[in-house]
Amino acid sequence: MSTKIFVILFATTALVLLTVVMFFPQSETQADEFTEQDLARWQEEFMSVVNKGRELWVSPDLGTNGVACAQCHPNAANTHPETYPKFQQQLGKVIALRDMINWCLINPLEGKKLALDDPRMVAIEAYVTYERRGVPLEPGKH
Ligand code: HEC
Repeated sequence: MSTKIFVILFATTALVLLTVVMFFPQSETQADEFTEQDLARWQEEFMSVVNKGRELWVSPDLGTNGVACAQCHPNAANTHPETYPKFQQQLGKVIALRDMINWCLINPLEGKKLALDDPRMVAIEAYVTYERRGVPLEPGKH
């Protein structure tokens, strides 16, 4: 078979396959289909965790010296979640946002670090990233 015929056959087959895929009737029950109710519920669940994070943010109870995150980072200012993971001098390696949250818990707040799967850690992360929503991701940036 000459190369030319092979190319024509290949192109035709590709075209036919593409047409079949494009016009194949979409199934009614796609896995990623969701309702307005689903969206409302997910938003509500998410915002309840963000609000828990906000409560922790302004609370002196996370540490031992009466200091709250909000005193140095009002409305999560200067937390730059969009730049993580990145190299941090204090820890001498590339770390995740949660590691820096723990660093501030131990140092300025003189508290104990949170387990990475502690619901309070998730809430703080949710709050910090929610405050910076819309900011483009720039991992590694200082
Ligand atoms: C006494 C002031 C102070 C308090 C209180 C404080 N921080 Fe910080 N925070 C800092 C300083 C200083 C840095 C270091 C900035 C750097 O070197 O990038 C920092 C950095 C951070 C960063 C990384 C910022 C970046 O640009 O990469 C995060 C995230 C953060 N803090 C979260 C918290 C959280 C969560 C709390 C409460 C548990 C908290 N901070 C409380 C002073 C504070």
